Amino acid sequence: MFSYKSPVDISKMTFLVTGGAGFIGSNLAEFLLVNNAREVRILDNFSTGYRENLAGFEKYKNFRLIEGDITNPEDCSLACDGADYVLHQAALGSVPRSIKDPVASNNVNVNGFLNMLQASVQHHVKRFVYASSSSVYGNDKTMPKTEMKTGELLSPYAVTKKANELYADVFAKTYGLEVIGLRYFNVFGPKQNINGPYAAVIPIFINELLSARSPSIFGDGTTTRDFTFVENVIQANLLAALTENKEAVNQIYNIAYGGTTSLNALFTKIAESVGSDIKPNYQPERKGDIKDSFADISKAKEKLGFKPTIEINKGLEITVSWYKAQLAKNG
Ligand SMILES: NC(=O)c1ccc[n+]([C@@H]2O[C@H](COP(=O)([O-])OP(=O)(O)OC[C@H]3O[C@@H](n4cnc5c(N)ncnc54)[C@H](O)[C@@H]3O)[C@@H](O)[C@H]2O)c1
Repeated sequence: MFSYKSPVDISKMTFLVTGGAGFIGSNLAEFLLVNNAREVRILDNFSTGYRENLAGFEKYKNFRLIEGDITNPEDCSLACDGADYVLHQAALGSVPRSIKDPVASNNVNVNGFLNMLQASVQHHVKRFVYASSSSVYGNDKTMPKTEMKTGELLSPYAVTKKANELYADVFAKTYGLEVIGLRYFNVFGPKQNINGPYAAVIPIFINELLSARSPSIFGDGTTTRDFTFVENVIQANLLAALTENKEAVNQIYNIAYGGTTSLNALFTKIAESVGSDIKPNYQPERKGDIKDSFADISKAKEKLGFKPTIEINKGLEITVSWYKAQLAKNG
């Protein structure tokens, strides 16, 4: 359950969460359901999302699942019809996936994004909040990362997220659509996918250690990230959708905790939390990965009133318990 509560009454508001069967989207949709939104719609094609992530949602009368594809304009139009706010999470995540198949990543992340912008204009959506990514900082060495300064992009995935920001900005200028982009920094929490080659580092470490296997660390473990618990990301989405500060709109924000943790330190924390003495298995660095990433979140604090409440250790505790419970349930 969530420790964060909606700052305002949302019982007269309809939200569309694209990618709502995925990790972040399903947590976001659940939060909106628990906080009594008038209607919470999910648009998802279950390509990387899971029906299990929606378990229990059917008990809410205000929940609606639209099984569809953002690369299909008609599905986008149907989903946006009558929506007040769009929280756009649907995308093909993962840098390595985009290196393997850049065309697929572009099709979903850019063409699908454009369809969603167009449907939002067509149906007079009040605001379009979308997931960008810290990958847009590329090879910029500035630390911490500030929104104005990005470097050369290092992967097709980063290109798709940068393209999202450019299109959103142009839609705001050209069609008057209110947009807010959230550059997420390494989000983690319950319901994050543990399977397949494109899983993220925290669920992989937890799952491998709970299964008594040695997880891989790419590089020497000194790579750093600003790991961000999912509930902080939910807060950012709510604030972005509902802020009445007009100066805060048509902007891009770093969304993170605002801390830095190396992969070695992360591994130690998770191993302690799991109660494991297994050592990591070091592998060569991967192409496209940023070496260090640490967010300056002062812009989101000032303009949106963003105040991340759950720091990494607490977030890991909640996440490890959730995966332990899942493992016990599924045998
Ligand atoms: N998890 C992170 O650390 C992180 C960091 C930066 C940015 N992001 C961004 O946040 C968003 C959510 O990420 P996530 O980690 O929850 O990923 P996820 O893969 O768990 O969720 C993405 C969801 O989008 C759905 N989807 C994919 N293609 C679709 C399509 N064509 N039509 C409809 N639905 C489609 C998937 O089925 C899935 O349910 C993505 O835009 C991602 O790029 C995530």
